Amino acid sequence: MCGIIGYIGKKEALPILIKGLRRLEYRGYDSAGVAIIEDSNIKRIRSVGRIDNLADKIKNEKFTGHVGIAHTRWATHGGVTEENAHPHFGCDEKLVIVHNGIIENYREIKEMLGNKHTFKTETDTEILAHLIENNYTGDLRLAVEKSLTMVRGTYALVAMHSDHPDTIVAARLGSPLVVGVNTDNGHDEYFIASDASPILSYTKKVIFLDDNEVLEISGGKMNTFNIKDEIVQKNIEEIEWDEAEAQKQGFPHFMLKEIFDQPRVFVDAIRGRYDLKNGISFLGGINMTEEEMHSVNKIILIACGTASYAGMVGKYAFERLAGIPTTVEVSSEFRYSDPIVDDKTLVFVLSQSGETADTLAALREAKRKGAFVRGVVNVVGSTIARETDGGTYIHAGPELAVASTKAYTNTVAVLLLYALQFGRLKRTSLATGERILKALLEIPEKMTKILEQSDKIKVIAEKYKNTKNMMFIGRGVNYPVALEGALKLKEISYVHADAFPGGELKHGHIALLSTDFPIFAIMTKNQLYDKMRSNVEEIKARKAPVILIATEGDVGTKDLSEDIIYVPETMELLEPLLNSVALQLFAYHTAVTLGRDVDRPRNLAKSVTVE
Ligand code: M6R
Repeated sequence: MCGIIGYIGKKEALPILIKGLRRLEYRGYDSAGVAIIEDSNIKRIRSVGRIDNLADKIKNEKFTGHVGIAHTRWATHGGVTEENAHPHFGCDEKLVIVHNGIIENYREIKEMLGNKHTFKTETDTEILAHLIENNYTGDLRLAVEKSLTMVRGTYALVAMHSDHPDTIVAARLGSPLVVGVNTDNGHDEYFIASDASPILSYTKKVIFLDDNEVLEISGGKMNTFNIKDEIVQKNIEEIEWDEAEAQKQGFPHFMLKEIFDQPRVFVDAIRGRYDLKNGISFLGGINMTEEEMHSVNKIILIACGTASYAGMVGKYAFERLAGIPTTVEVSSEFRYSDPIVDDKTLVFVLSQSGETADTLAALREAKRKGAFVRGVVNVVGSTIARETDGGTYIHAGPELAVASTKAYTNTVAVLLLYALQFGRLKRTSLATGERILKALLEIPEKMTKILEQSDKIKVIAEKYKNTKNMMFIGRGVNYPVALEGALKLKEISYVHADAFPGGELKHGHIALLSTDFPIFAIMTKNQLYDKMRSNVEEIKARKAPVILIATEGDVGTKDLSEDIIYVPETMELLEPLLNSVALQLFAYHTAVTLGRDVDRPRNLAKSVTVE
């Protein structure tokens, strides 16, 4: 996820673009850049780091042009360097583009363009710029349209060409683009952005580009075309949000927005990483020969907090699919233990931020002891990503709320793919591989079904808002889900919560139960269903209130609780991807009901860079 802003009008473009980038910085912030048409030439400046760095670099430059594009990057292809920052030129530096999304067939296109073009970066976007340049015969829109018929992937794209100093062309497939239209009272200006937040201080009138549409603003006129190059009539809509609301895309908090991002970003986590026909997944980042992969006799997953609970789900997957003994170690413990690690041990370090100090220290310790160390990280170019000898980005996009949500589900997704990759090398059959991949592909739709129950979950959260303590229970793969549910609840609502495997209740914890001590039980239909049901019945017998997560259609649950959240059925190993979404919503609504600062809970930081 990156941020795009473009301007064409009568004002100086630069201040509008820099202000717009600041509004969009939440979408990505590893590097930024701007390109403006100045006297029929394109002037471009880029910088690594936050928008402040770019603004600093630009402050002594003279930009007077009225047409420009800018970008704040969240790296997907290629490291965080100035070279890789957008905007990207073609060869003759007359055509320039900014892009959000992933061009999946960029290698093929690069090969097709051959020696005629010189590439300076590691990005898929630069290849797209060269493709458009290659197809350019005097009409920028036609060149963009032709190029887009040749690419596979997703994009929000804005292009300029110095031969057409009063033209901007934009296109969308899978990544949003909003066009602000300010043509009243002598204004004659248009804004193109990834969301409405940078536009709203100029105009509330917008059009939303739809997939497969191409927009051309030229000589003060705006037209939208479909892929057959026919004009499409677009309605101008009035936005009611203010600027802050727009950044959150209308959601009251980043956390809720990020919970709702999950069906979309989940697709980004798995895209291009599996082959359904052969029931296999392939994460190139493993960076090991087949022989080395076969030699692995132990896997250790190292992480903190939510990332460690994602790791616990991964443990079940590695053991079940690949038969490799797997443990999960909390980073702060691993670094001070005497871990038994050798050159047959594969260590995955899991971290959303890629900067967690304890996880970083554990990584260094594992490397020192000679293990294969790979990262599963969200933030591209982060320290953990750089210090591991391989690994995989989870592509969840920026996660700004302190409580981790979409990074959890995407980490689980990537671990499942790794487990399948090892599994198919070892003991998982083609049929099982296929079944897992098919089930993974159904997850976004099933997540959406849970998100649609947000209001119902809110009613349950409000009912229990005066609860001082809560216990979460689950079994098997849902035990980490219970741990994650309890962590989510306590960190943002400050309600005390703990989690236990259902079978552990009788060994002490059951003494706590009373009529004002609710239990949240995860009781979906899987091989441990009957065991879990017995645990819930034991709770009911002690008259403690029960909230249930159950599988859709499981009518037999009605006698156990008044408060049931039904989730769609999936394969057992994949259940955490759904059940956790329900628990995230429960924690969120509880915190809101209690008037907590949901996105910035007390005493916590998003990235824990101290021991
Ligand atoms: O950035 P990391 O994934 O390494 O962070 C690990 C934990 O600090 C993090 O998951 C923390 O537990 C979250 N606040 C949980 O929502």
